[in-house]
Amino acid sequence: MAGEKISRVGIIGAGQMGAGIAEVCARANADVLVYESTRELAAAGRSRILRSLDRGVSSGKLTEREREQASWRLRFTSDLGDFADRQLVVEAIIEDEEVKTQIFRELDKVVTDPNAVLASNTSSIPIMKLGMATENASRVIGMHFFNPVPVLPLVELVTTLMTSTEVSERAEAFAHDVLGKQVVRSSDRSGFVVNALLVPYLLSAVRMVESGFATVEDIDKAMVLGCAHPMGPLKLTDLVGLDTVKAIADSMYEEFKEPLYSPPPLLLRMVEAGRLGKKSGRGFYQYGDGAAK
Ligand code: 3HC
Repeated sequence: MAGEKISRVGIIGAGQMGAGIAEVCARANADVLVYESTRELAAAGRSRILRSLDRGVSSGKLTEREREQASWRLRFTSDLGDFADRQLVVEAIIEDEEVKTQIFRELDKVVTDPNAVLASNTSSIPIMKLGMATENASRVIGMHFFNPVPVLPLVELVTTLMTSTEVSERAEAFAHDVLGKQVVRSSDRSGFVVNALLVPYLLSAVRMVESGFATVEDIDKAMVLGCAHPMGPLKLTDLVGLDTVKAIADSMYEEFKEPLYSPPPLLLRMVEAGRLGKKSGRGFYQYGDGAAK
């Protein structure tokens, strides 16, 4: 039934964002099933979540018992067919429109409850494109979380011209009442609210490095000390992932054709070189083996 409280959640992808979303759902007592395409990726996702739960215990935010209970609520599968009984699915795979579209096409066939919420954590791809890959676009919505998901309290809720009011109310109730997140609503425009503002800023910082205007360290220091940001734009680009920033910029450029969204050559070269930021060990900074700054 439409108003049934969501307790069975499916997460597609156990990378940085998927793992974070799965963790907060499990901590909020939901039964969480996580899809990864291979056993190896599932194992990596599980250890990412367990490490973060450990961190919660060591910082005093979780008790040992809460950590245990959250880990029992997490199951992994590499068969999307197992998602049939899910009341909410959040897709959090790479920013690739074709791959996401294919996932939504399959999910639509698998998830039987017509009132189930099919959400995407996409950073920038218009949700309508994903909705139109399904037979029932009224249950498709954007639920955009922020990295690190256990720490940042925001979810952007993105409704399309087709999303039903019931679906958006259910998604909002889950994000706010169950996960304890604050919700802002955005129109279905590439970048939504946060990335439409954040990504041009990150790209401007990359252009500053590229032109020799200032050093990486000084640009970051300037924004941390001058504007009280928790981290500077280049460290944040490393955290988000240079490939992800590029993908978001591409998608916003495609939508608006504004030069400020166009990824600068330095960003492209770094992505081509595999310097993807924190996750690959190197971006604007180096990470791991005591090299993290
Ligand atoms: N998982 C769980 N908890 C984490 C965590 C993680 N990955 N990273 C940090 N934390 C917790 C720590 O345990 C600590 O908790 P405590 O205060 O209770 O001890 C707290 O967060 C602060 O962490 P640290 O002391 O280790 O480090 P900092 O104070 O430097 O904070 C930060 C780290 C939370 C990442 C902070 O620098 C920050 O908020 N940076 C900005 C991040 C940001 O802007 N994210 C948005 C990116 S855009 C996005 O995600 C959208 C996408 O579409 C691109």
